[in-house]
Amino acid sequence: MSSYNPFNSTIFNKVIMAGTGVILVLFVIGHMVGNLQVFLGADVFNTYAHFLKSTGELLWIMRLVLLLCVVLHVYTSLKLKFLNMKARPEGYSVTSYVKSTLYSRTMIYSGIVIFLFVVYHLLHFTAFVTNPEYADYSENYGPVLQSSGMIDHSGNIIQVTEGEGIFDRHDAYKMVITGFNKPIVAIVYILAVLFLALHLSHAIQSMFQTLGWSGPKTTPRLMLVSKLIGWGLFVGFASIPVSVLIFGLGKGVIG
Ligand code: HEM
Repeated sequence: MSSYNPFNSTIFNKVIMAGTGVILVLFVIGHMVGNLQVFLGADVFNTYAHFLKSTGELLWIMRLVLLLCVVLHVYTSLKLKFLNMKARPEGYSVTSYVKSTLYSRTMIYSGIVIFLFVVYHLLHFTAFVTNPEYADYSENYGPVLQSSGMIDHSGNIIQVTEGEGIFDRHDAYKMVITGFNKPIVAIVYILAVLFLALHLSHAIQSMFQTLGWSGPKTTPRLMLVSKLIGWGLFVGFASIPVSVLIFGLGKGVIG
């Protein structure tokens, strides 16, 4: 006699996938809006980056939630594939693409590319493993010094210059501009967000369906919303490397 295990049910796993997907999409939208501040100049962008870092424990809670979502999202996607295969071990004798689209057929591949990109992205802009010099990019801000001289800063004697701000913070603006000045890096980012657009254009609509929002009128509308979000994210994210590489955004900060 086989007993029912809810953890192995398709609907349970689909709900986990949809729930974690919602959180990841909200993060990506917020991240894009935050990054678009690069167009407002170094001061605004660095203030934003500095604010994120200053949130301390909150930042770590957000990182843990994101990590948990990624792990659960990947795990349930593999589990659903396995459950589908178990339900239909022979597979279809004729491959049918009725109702499937380029997007839905490439989900697993676009998902793998996005995962690999995020690993590279964290090594690039967060952990500075690919470019250790980014860790030393800093800028002065805050109230401007009236004269130059040597001061005692928490036990360290440092040189201060007239006209500079009295505080010091990471120059995330210079890091992003320097990063995207390398064509290969800019192209990797543009391709990654292209895959993100392909993935989300299908995923968001599929997520709505899982949560029970479907119907002859609703489904086409949700498909449109899904594509608008996916391609909107592509335009927003890709506009940054494109502007740096082709239109010389922030050229002045590169020595
Ligand atoms: C043009 C595209 C992008 C730019 C310019 C960009 C920029 C940045 C920067 C500057 C940071 C480091 C923040 C800091 O520590 O000061 C960061 C972190 C991060 N980015 Fe991006 N990003 C881009 C695209 C993406 C995409 C498409 C994703 C996800 C699919 C993503 C996911 C993340 C994550 C998870 C972090 C780590 C957040 C943290 O733990 O602090 N980014 N990004």
